[in-house]
Amino acid sequence: MKLFLDTANIDEIREIHAWGVLDGVTTNPSLIAKNGGDFIQTVHDIAELVQGPVSAEVVAQDTEGMIREGRLLAKVHEHIVVKVPLTPQGLGAVRALTDEGIRTNVTLCFQPAQALLAAKAGATYISPFIGRIDDISWGGGELIDQIVQIYANSSQITTQVLAASIRHPLHLVDAALAGAHVATVPYGVMRRLLDHPLTERGNRKFLEDWATVEDTDIVGQVERWLAARSA
Ligand code: G3P
Repeated sequence: MKLFLDTANIDEIREIHAWGVLDGVTTNPSLIAKNGGDFIQTVHDIAELVQGPVSAEVVAQDTEGMIREGRLLAKVHEHIVVKVPLTPQGLGAVRALTDEGIRTNVTLCFQPAQALLAAKAGATYISPFIGRIDDISWGGGELIDQIVQIYANSSQITTQVLAASIRHPLHLVDAALAGAHVATVPYGVMRRLLDHPLTERGNRKFLEDWATVEDTDIVGQVERWLAARSA
């Protein structure tokens, strides 16, 4: 499963990118507004840093306007993926952009029939919002299961399931178990993926025990050992 970060904050992206695990980034108008700054320069800089898919969302609500904005956004950087809302006008724009070879991420998906339509329109990615479904006490994980199964049942569908609106680490695990192709994770959740008390406790014990050995300097030990072998 590919791992994307769901943010427009370049500092958050730079930090997680340094982990060596980041495959891409998703933004949306709310994340861009929260981050501030120049929208186009921001998504360009993110794409240049990550060198992977970066979703930038159109805001026009008519098909022609979405197509116009999408064509221009695709020119900003080779890694830009045009994000389009799952509306009738959005489907028409996805079809047109796809036919021009422009990658799309269809967003705001909340039920499997919507995902089927997005795939039929040629979407590169579909973004079911797990968290927002859980927020109204429905099963976000079930949505991922159903979309993955529907897509797997059709050899013509190449659309990738991009699990979004992830609220906690278990949403990521559920998406991975369900077979989602991608999960896009907010920075705060990404940081929590690593946290486990047994990892922290075990690492601390290793270091305590290592402190009792005679020579704790691994670099010096290896350099002396290599020197002795080559002597
Ligand atoms: O990319 C979609 C994602 O940003 C939505 O997440 O937390 O606003 O439901 P959220």
